[in-house]
Amino acid sequence: MTGEDCEDCPCGGDGGPVQPSIYTDRRARMEVQRRDIAKLLATVGGLTAIASLTAPLAGLTQVFERGYNGPVYSDGVHLVDGEGERISEDRLAEGEQLTVFPEPRPGIEDAPTLLVRFPESAYGGGTNMAYTVSGYAAYSKVCTHAGCMVSDREGSTLVCPCHFGKFDPTAGAAVVGGPPGRPLPQLPITLTSDGFLVATGDFEAAVGPGGGE
Ligand code: FES
Repeated sequence: MTGEDCEDCPCGGDGGPVQPSIYTDRRARMEVQRRDIAKLLATVGGLTAIASLTAPLAGLTQVFERGYNGPVYSDGVHLVDGEGERISEDRLAEGEQLTVFPEPRPGIEDAPTLLVRFPESAYGGGTNMAYTVSGYAAYSKVCTHAGCMVSDREGSTLVCPCHFGKFDPTAGAAVVGGPPGRPLPQLPITLTSDGFLVATGDFEAAVGPGGGE
């Protein structure tokens, strides 16, 4: 599939136990805009109109754009939820997940990250266990195929709704289905002495599409 196929993406909502995030609202607004534009195309018709409006439509398929060249995370940066609250060790039960972000600082506005928690025994090959703590692992939420948010879930499998890319969070977010060409990059995390999750560095690989596909 290609990015153009995203015109049919069900990107409008999170599924399963995913916690609400700023991206949920953003995608919903974008979906409304996309449908409005699609109605306009149907009304106006004609190849000229289609050609002129295709580019903006395609732009809506990529819901994350990194506008910052430096590291997203660095050693000691706290993980926070959509309200900016720091993540304590007891925040998630095993099997749960949450969309988190780097604690805001100049140059960083958005960097969606999937925080998951499983029994440590559930993790197999692929997950860098030195990057996990107390059953927590963190991966970029930006799909490595075309940049949509990996916002759905089937059992323990993380699912991107755009082209149904599937990632196994217990195996280093390895691709287990769909078109993505590489895993979701893992974020090294640890706990502070007062029990909050922080990064110990940046994502192990490039965030989003490209970067080795
Ligand atoms: S953007 Fe295509 S599978 Fe995620």
